[in-house]
Parts: sequence; structure tokens; C-alpha cells
Amino acid sequence: MPAQPAKIAVTNQKGGVAKTTLSINVAGATAAAGYETLLIDLDPQGYLTNGVGLEAEYTAESTTLYDALQSPTEYDLSALAVSHPEFDVVPANIDMFSLDQELVSAMQGRLRLQMLLDSGLDEYDFVIIDCPPSLGLLTDNALLGATDLLIPAEAEDTSIRALDILFKQIDTLEENFDVSIQERGIVVSNVDYPLDNDQKEMLQWFEDNFSNYIPVFEIRRRAAIKRAYNHGVSVFEYEEDCDQIPEFERIADHLATELLGGEQ
Ligand SMILES: Nc1ncnc2c1ncn2[C@@H]1O[C@H](COP(=O)(O)OP(=O)(O)O)[C@@H](O)[C@H]1O
Ligand SMILES: [Mg+2]
Repeated sequence: MPAQPAKIAVTNQKGGVAKTTLSINVAGATAAAGYETLLIDLDPQGYLTNGVGLEAEYTAESTTLYDALQSPTEYDLSALAVSHPEFDVVPANIDMFSLDQELVSAMQGRLRLQMLLDSGLDEYDFVIIDCPPSLGLLTDNALLGATDLLIPAEAEDTSIRALDILFKQIDTLEENFDVSIQERGIVVSNVDYPLDNDQKEMLQWFEDNFSNYIPVFEIRRRAAIKRAYNHGVSVFEYEEDCDQIPEFERIADHLATELLGGEQ
């Protein structure tokens, strides 16, 4: 087991592009492959947290991810992790809504998550971060903390602009923080067959623009994926004959090969 887990931010500032769905199912895939997996909900809206049944943690007044991001040297993320049937989860908390504002003027406001991720997580092979649907301080924290990214996007022309904005933000962070942020895969999500012409064109656009340097995965729209999400688990736990499982496995294998050297 590596001393440092692979850290992956699932990010795209556009809402409804399957960040949370992808986070849960990639975590389900790495967990099913035998990797110790931690899922962090960095979205103040807490869809992941509430979805996996941690409503009490979302509104808890006890120590939460909010406190840890405010004072990263005083907290340990593993102490905030809650167990789930497949993986561990660090829940979001409703107080996190104010962080995008509070961290702007704070010292190292964009490096809080990086500080938290840097120690105390040796028991995990994978840490997967579900990002908010916005570009702000929390998302900057995820990009700088993980530095490896999985980018879900829909087969719609609005994705072109969304990715352009995201890549500009990545460039800005790389320049200002002297880090290298690596896109590890684009996941075209919620693809609806039979394809109409617009979807066909967009799938081709992803292929033409990305496949030379990063893999482009494709997850199809499936009721089973939604059902699993509504039950707070991945398809690996809920519907193991879902035909999209092999694609989630391919994503997990790719991440393991690239980031863990394929070891287990
Ligand atoms: N492959 C899929 N098949 C069916 N429904 C999906 C799929 N991917 C995402 N969804 C649904 O689309 C909606 C938005 O997905 P979500 O993961 O919450 O997006 P985000 O986190 O980017 O806002 C959710 O209702 C989710 O259940
Ligand atoms: Mg989400």
C-alpha cells in the first residue's frame, strides 16, 4: 500500500453533470476492487452526504469538515470519516456555505484541503472528492489538494464552454501555486441512446479534443444508476448486473494504473 493515497477531485463547475453520481460509482468501483476508499463531500449542498443517509452529520453542530477547513492544523480528516457499506465518507456540513466567502481573505485559503489531505490518510488507497457546482474557493481547494482530476461532462454543446472555463481556472492555479494539476479522464455522463445528432457531434468533439492525451470514458443513462444513487450506494452495491459497471471498472483500473502503479 502506498504511503500517500491517490487523491482525485471529481470536478466541473456546471451543475447536474453527474459529479456526485460519478464520485459514488468510482468509489464503489475502487472499493469493489479491494482498495480502501474515502469519499469527501466538498459540496456545501451536501447531496452526497444526504444521499448516503448522513443527514444528521449534515446539520450536526459537532466538529465537521467546516471546522477542519477553517483550522486544518487542528483536525484530522480520518477522525471525521463515517463508515458506509462500501467506503468511508467525510460528510459535508451546512455551515460550509460560508466558506467560499470566509476563505477568500484567509491565509492560504486555497490550500486548506491540501493541508488536511497531506497527513493521516495512510490507511486509504483512494481519496475521491466530490466538488461543488461552482468555481470558488472550495473548488480551488479541491483542485490544489487533489491535483489529479476526473472531469464529468454531458454530451451537450454547453460542455464546451464549461470545460474551457475549467481549464482556464486550472491554468491560473498552476501559475499562481507552482503545481501541476493532471486531468486523468473525461467522463461523458448520462449519455442517452439512441444518440441524436447533437449527442453524436458532441461525442466526436470529446474524442477529437481529448483522446490523444487523456482517456474519454462514457457512462450511459441508466435507471439503475439513479436507483442506486437514490439508495445512497453505488451500482456495485445495489445493482450488480448494471451494464455500466464495466465502464466504472475501467475508470477505476485506469486510476489505479496511473496513480498507484496498479498495485493492490
Ligand atoms: N448515468 C446516469 N443515469 C441516470 N441518471 C443519472 C446518470 N448520471 C447522473 N444521473 C442523474 O442526474 C442528476 C444529476 O446528477 P448529479 O450526480 O447529482 O450531478 P452533479 O453532482 O454534477 O450536480 C441526478 O438526478 C442523477 O441521479
Ligand atoms: Mg453534486
